[in-house]
Amino acid sequence: MSTAPASPAAPLTARTAIAAGVDLPQLGLGVFQIPPDQVQPIVEQALDVGYRHVDTAAAYNNESGVGAALRASGLPREEVFVTSKLRNGEQGYDAALRAHAETLERLGVDHLDLFLIHWPNPGAGLWQETWRAFERLHSEGSVRAIGVSNFLPEHLRELTEVASTLPAVNQIELHPTHSQSDLVAHHRELGITVESYSPLGQGADLDLPEITRIAEAHCATPAQVVLRWHIQHGFVVIPKTTSRDRLVENLDVDGFRLSAEQMATIDALDRGHRIGNDPATFSISQIR
Ligand SMILES: NC(=O)c1ccc[n+]([C@@H]2O[C@H](COP(=O)([O-])OP(=O)(O)OC[C@H]3O[C@@H](n4cnc5c(N)ncnc54)[C@H](OP(=O)(O)O)[C@@H]3O)[C@@H](O)[C@H]2O)c1
Repeated sequence: MSTAPASPAAPLTARTAIAAGVDLPQLGLGVFQIPPDQVQPIVEQALDVGYRHVDTAAAYNNESGVGAALRASGLPREEVFVTSKLRNGEQGYDAALRAHAETLERLGVDHLDLFLIHWPNPGAGLWQETWRAFERLHSEGSVRAIGVSNFLPEHLRELTEVASTLPAVNQIELHPTHSQSDLVAHHRELGITVESYSPLGQGADLDLPEITRIAEAHCATPAQVVLRWHIQHGFVVIPKTTSRDRLVENLDVDGFRLSAEQMATIDALDRGHRIGNDPATFSISQIR
């Protein structure tokens, strides 16, 4: 099995449309758990090796470092797709508008490409009025696309009752041992793009023998196989790494294709193994 990093000239993964006139590189960099004082050089390296899509959140407390990296890269703003997310404690119409303005300020940008409600936060019951604020931001052009994260079918149902604009994406925990096929099917019916978070199972799914066998067959790494599985399913995928070699490795997933049988083998690894919080109950404010 080859573990040599691919060349920095590795091709970018394809772009995918998530809303009218809005498309994004299907593979981006997630920066959850990268400390604020470490995020800038990592995002700079990512942009240097070819990433053009970064996923952050107000709750990660690292938006300022992401913004500094965007500026240091010298790339035109429109070349990098930037997602951020609204903290639970900032749900509500006025609070969401204020929080969005603060996110723009921390990032040093005049618009977001995608803004997500981070969690449904069912205890607060505020996502409907939060969505009205998101729709206003969208209509004013300060957000190119709006979406949600961690929404279950019941949350989506309540949201779509009041929504004039459907969420462009739902960012959910999704990896081989937690592949959420029912939820994915529900999104396909609604026309909502699925974005996979913790796509490598935070590294835990990479040692499965089925994955390593398929990796050997393609002279690829386990991470490349898992990312390829997400891409062939049509998911947007945002692996996190702090290593330059892995940044390159994770982006280099266009050079091989999994067979239908290999896709089915990985599909069959689902164990309902959730790593993160349960969206049905999670209601931490996320404000320090
Ligand atoms: N919306 C939400 O509620 C939510 C929740 C969680 C995550 N997310 C988003 O999803 C992104 C990714 O999820 P995640 O950070 O939880 O987990 P992940 O991307 O599945 O896994 C990250 C872990 O895998 C390791 N890794 C990365 N590339 C690797 C490779 N090629 N080979 C071996 N190990 C590798 C990383 O280690 P090193 O850093 O040492 O390389 C890190 O420990 C986050 O950064 C965030 O943007 C969103």
